[in-house]
Amino acid sequence: MAEGYPRDQRDAIYRVIAERRDVRQGFRPDPVPPEVLGRVLAAAHQAPSVGFSQPWDFIVITDRARRERVAALAGRHRDAFAADLPGARARAFDRLKIESILDTPVNIAVSCDRTRGGRHTLGRATQPQTADFSSVLAVANLWLAARAEGLGVGWVSFFDERELAAELGLPAHVAVIAYLCVGFVDQFAPEPELATAGWARRRPLSWAVHAEEFGRRAMPGEEPVDQLADVLAAIAPPDAEAMAAARERQDRMTKPRGSLGALEEVSVRLAGLAGGCPPPLPEPACVAVFAADHGVHAQGVTPWPQEVTAQMVANFLAGGAVVNAFAAQAGAEVTVVDVGVAADLEPVPGLLPRKIARGTADFTEGPAMTRDQATAALLTGAEIARDLVAAGNRCLVTGDMGIANTTASAALICAFTGADPADATGRGTGIDAATYARKIDVVCRGLDRHQPGAPGVSGPADPVGVLAAFGGFEHAALAGFILGAAALRVPVILDGVIAGAAALAAVALAPDAAAACFAGHRSAEPGHAITLSHLGLRPLVDLGLRLGEGTGAVLALPLVQSAARALRDVATFDSAGVAEKS
Ligand SMILES: Cc1cc2nc3c(=O)[nH]c(=O)nc-3n(C[C@H](O)[C@H](O)[C@H](O)COP(=O)(O)O)c2cc1C
Repeated sequence: MAEGYPRDQRDAIYRVIAERRDVRQGFRPDPVPPEVLGRVLAAAHQAPSVGFSQPWDFIVITDRARRERVAALAGRHRDAFAADLPGARARAFDRLKIESILDTPVNIAVSCDRTRGGRHTLGRATQPQTADFSSVLAVANLWLAARAEGLGVGWVSFFDERELAAELGLPAHVAVIAYLCVGFVDQFAPEPELATAGWARRRPLSWAVHAEEFGRRAMPGEEPVDQLADVLAAIAPPDAEAMAAARERQDRMTKPRGSLGALEEVSVRLAGLAGGCPPPLPEPACVAVFAADHGVHAQGVTPWPQEVTAQMVANFLAGGAVVNAFAAQAGAEVTVVDVGVAADLEPVPGLLPRKIARGTADFTEGPAMTRDQATAALLTGAEIARDLVAAGNRCLVTGDMGIANTTASAALICAFTGADPADATGRGTGIDAATYARKIDVVCRGLDRHQPGAPGVSGPADPVGVLAAFGGFEHAALAGFILGAAALRVPVILDGVIAGAAALAAVALAPDAAAACFAGHRSAEPGHAITLSHLGLRPLVDLGLRLGEGTGAVLALPLVQSAARALRDVATFDSAGVAEKS
């Protein structure tokens, strides 16, 4: 067996990997000696490449006038990107430096000739993109060698590739892969600047390692983790000390005691969830609209055709729905998740394709989904919560779309709370008396068939079974989303009756998940009031909304954010020198 490197040399390799940083500030004007640049380029040139095709070239740019033109190209795309960002993200982006084209003495463009080596380049014939991957590996080598030399490197990708290629005189068959700003620095940041700025977080390694099959998370030498059990185990009660500190601060703030009404409790709950006072501001926020279809639609519980689910998904993605308008106003991002739409959806930016199946089965005839499907949907929701938090969101907002989902919600609410179907079933989008009577009957028949309360059969003691019996894929995914948020101690603002039904499932699985939930509003659906009282949540907005999509929750977002900001920013009587009431 070949020997590994001696310990100190191995440590040096791991050190350079850990300490390589994308550098954007703190560059020194000192020129980079040609021999240093030569060593770094030689390291890049030793990268692996598909079929040993070595598709890279390195364009070394020092001319100021050229760098100014390149910086202008990047500036235009930076502005366009900024104009597209929701409020809190735009403010955070404004504080970020994304390129150092003029602050560094040398820029290096790494290109790729996708034709080099001809037709029989080994490996590239089946995967043409491996040519680009090879040039990226050259970048990685360069980046690591530069760190070892004390040179900072910042990668700039705010370019139209052909515009930049023209500026650099690249022939049509050669592509720009990377544009790097290179120079000496006084120090390297200990962690990615985007992490320090709160823009995004590092995903834990254990989320990224799968054993044998995608989705089977396991670190080497360890048993595969039961992911749902892991998420549930991470959910803990709110921090009583932080809550007490928040209450105490509310009483010292320059306002009469209790005068912020329900918002005081919101701030206290946010502190309890965060485990500190003041808690972080719940922004940026992201609405995840979970969309799915329902087999029970066949029972004639709504006048809307099932196709409307897919059509509304397209509307959300085009930015034309009410939730988009409200989210734009509140400065939140909208992400749409296909967890079970009964149509093939085009891949477009903003759509997360996570389809479990093309709609559920009719719960009056059998379980809406299998237990495995319910678990898969729960995990999908939890993973989306994790990804959105890793992407820098500090507040999650539930949204949903699924024609016939108020029927499934009513059945879930009855199963979890023991409510009477006549009390828990509502008119959804608006239905006539005959349809309403049929809808109640459908819920009754479902409950009769699945007997959620019967001993030994799935019941509130078996929340996954209840979800499988009645739920939509969006209910199960929303339950997972809530659990994922609770496990990461990030607040999740619930929309109406669909989110409420999902929250019942989440809380049945992990009672402490309720601490992460904030009821955005009370919907006009009668089952929602039952749900909120069961969950012990006070709705922040009560405007008779019955739209879904996440609209009521988004309206409450500024209220939750204001509650946190008041706790953080408002002066206390002692600090402001304001006299208290005698
Ligand atoms: C393909 C690629 C493109 C990038 N483009 C940019 C960019 O345009 N502007 C920027 O500021 N950083 C850019 N970066 C740097 C990343 O934001 C940075 O690598 C990431 O935040 C991780 O930080 P670290 O490199 O310090 O570990 C890019 C990185 C890669 C790999």
